[in-house]
Amino acid sequence: MKKQKIAIVGATGAVGEELLNVLDELDFPVESILPLASAKSAGSEVEFGGKFYKVKELTEEVFKQNPVDIAFFSAGGSISAKYAKFAVETGAVVIDNTSHFRMNQDVPLVVPECNAEDIKLWKKTGIIANPNCSTIQMVHILKPLDEVFNLKRVDVATYQAASGAGKEGMAELVEGLQSFFAFKLDEFKANTFPYTLALNLIPQIDEFSDNGYTKEELKMVNETQKILHKNLEISATCVRVGVLRSHSEALSLHFEKEVDVKKAREILKNAPSVVVIDDVANKKYPMPLFTSDTNETYVGRIRKDISRDNVLHLWCVADQIRVGAATNAVRIAQKWLELRGK
Ligand code: A2P
Repeated sequence: MKKQKIAIVGATGAVGEELLNVLDELDFPVESILPLASAKSAGSEVEFGGKFYKVKELTEEVFKQNPVDIAFFSAGGSISAKYAKFAVETGAVVIDNTSHFRMNQDVPLVVPECNAEDIKLWKKTGIIANPNCSTIQMVHILKPLDEVFNLKRVDVATYQAASGAGKEGMAELVEGLQSFFAFKLDEFKANTFPYTLALNLIPQIDEFSDNGYTKEELKMVNETQKILHKNLEISATCVRVGVLRSHSEALSLHFEKEVDVKKAREILKNAPSVVVIDDVANKKYPMPLFTSDTNETYVGRIRKDISRDNVLHLWCVADQIRVGAATNAVRIAQKWLELRGK
């Protein structure tokens, strides 16, 4: 396969760094790397495949001066809004990790295990959107179960790690914990999060909308419906927790008909990018400390509702920076390479 010239916008950030690791691990055919970030990082270096690449400042001209085949954007929505078009103009496909283009009907929103075929729409705008981190791990579970049992409604509560707020979010959690051990937690000033995250839970991610839901919660609703091509009923409660980098979710799934737990477990065992850890007798279930730095969505605690035969409850965990961002973006790029001529 022809090797690709790759730009990473936000190469010095949490997702940008992980993109480099995942491209390498998944043996993506890379010819060269163009790491881009803000002016303050220009001149610093990132490593890929044993080679060092100088970070350049993201400007309107940088893609003209250094044309690439694929540009990953992970520097925030306002940066994608302003600069993605310059990458597209020079012939690159943009794989955008921000929320900016996700609900644009001409932009495919893709989790390759669920709706890879949608990638073909990329020609309309030159852009493919990578969904929200909580959505990606959830649809890994929903899609295979929906195919067999016909999903009608999802109620989800998330337990989201600090990494969802980037490197600053992770640093703020660690600093909060350090303040606690220095007996100074009451003096700690939160900056990235609305309150101190250390030893705490915050039932707010992003701003509130008029209907009482946060934007993060509404992303889970709207993006899931777009990916699954289905007008599913979904209600989400998104909570930030004092965990470094894997998100967890408690899911209640309402199906059209009665579900069978054994069959559901078998379906999930055979689902792509899903690993079942479900042996409660031996206290085996997924936990964020042990799933970080991996590329799979882990699922356990699979059980039927006590009073309803058509309802299944389960627990899933996945590395937010990888599964919820970098790994999905690289899997999109792999599929794009496969499908682009079709
Ligand atoms: P920089 O390190 O130069 O600020 P994270 O999500 O971990 O906070 O990372 C955000 C990423 O987005 C970083 O690589 C950061 O670069 C990059 N970024 C932030 N603002 C800009 C900007 N104005 N232009 C280009 N990249 C930016």
